[in-house]
Amino acid sequence: MKFPKYRLRRLRRTENFRKLFSETKLSVSDLIMPYFVVGGKNIKQPIKSMPDIFRYSIDKLLKEVKETHNLGIPAVLLFGVTEKKDRIGSYAYNKNDIVQKAIRTIKKEIPDIVVITDVCMCSYTSHGHCGILKHNLKKTNNKLRTTNYEIDNDATLDTLSKIALSHALAGADIVAPSAMMDGQVQAIRETLDKNGFKDVAILSYSAKYASNFYGPFREAADSSPKFGDRKSYQMNFSNVKEALREVEQDINEGADIVMVKPALSYLDVIRDVKENFNIPLAAYNVSGEYSMVKASSEKGWLNEKKVVLEILTSIKRAGADIIISYWAKEVAKWLICNSV
Ligand code: PBG
Repeated sequence: MKFPKYRLRRLRRTENFRKLFSETKLSVSDLIMPYFVVGGKNIKQPIKSMPDIFRYSIDKLLKEVKETHNLGIPAVLLFGVTEKKDRIGSYAYNKNDIVQKAIRTIKKEIPDIVVITDVCMCSYTSHGHCGILKHNLKKTNNKLRTTNYEIDNDATLDTLSKIALSHALAGADIVAPSAMMDGQVQAIRETLDKNGFKDVAILSYSAKYASNFYGPFREAADSSPKFGDRKSYQMNFSNVKEALREVEQDINEGADIVMVKPALSYLDVIRDVKENFNIPLAAYNVSGEYSMVKASSEKGWLNEKKVVLEILTSIKRAGADIIISYWAKEVAKWLICNSV
């Protein structure tokens, strides 16, 4: 029997061998921590379907973000959660909205953390859709009608631009449009430039799929559509070539960073975007991916820390440069303690 001379096992012998030769190195600087912000004071509300994630009022949020910053995480992503909803999501661009206030507070206290804001309408519309509806809705038996609705793409662009501008005025460093309206990056870029915000960057949710993994987020952000679904504006999960067209279009419209979302079931999309375009690529390790692992680790079926590090490393290995994850803060602690 002839044994092979080249034995890959030699480089896998000990923890330090494996460290030295690992091709993908997850680091704290890859991570973005998302936060849900609510009005009021001294609030830290648990989210049932997302254990260990909370909705914070601004005073508590500031404390949280300070810790996140001290762990070396370079950026946070803010989502506003509000009861002030109307048909056209007008509260989203109110300069005294919670997100605008949160940005001002964070930037005043921790100026060097990168503040990214979600630019969308679904938490602010009474119907829970990410855009403006074309038709008037009727209430029957106190419920909104469930058929014959259509999103007005172009009317929505105007609102998204107003939201992005209000975030920029409050001091946001990066705005992240997630409504999946055609032309949203261009509309926002033009508005920002016209108003003197040439340095505010756009992180576009370019390839955002109509995914079933957003469920827990919608509980957290109170943003479920009251009827219908988001399939007319978010992508069909069967498609990858279309994702490349979405990304190409967003780059042409002026996106500085593009995103694939969700991450785990879409590693092939991440890889394809990375191989086809030379632009920073973000991946969103979404709420359903979080809750799945949380639930099974609570049952003792999975080791949370080990599984999370494997998942995030695989997202990076697929080609993501930056990762948005509800575990960002925990992972930073694990990586810093070098207990991987
Ligand atoms: C808003 C938005 C959603 C997510 C991020 N921004 C929900 C949706 O599109 O319904 C999902 C994030 C997550 O699941 O963690 N449009």
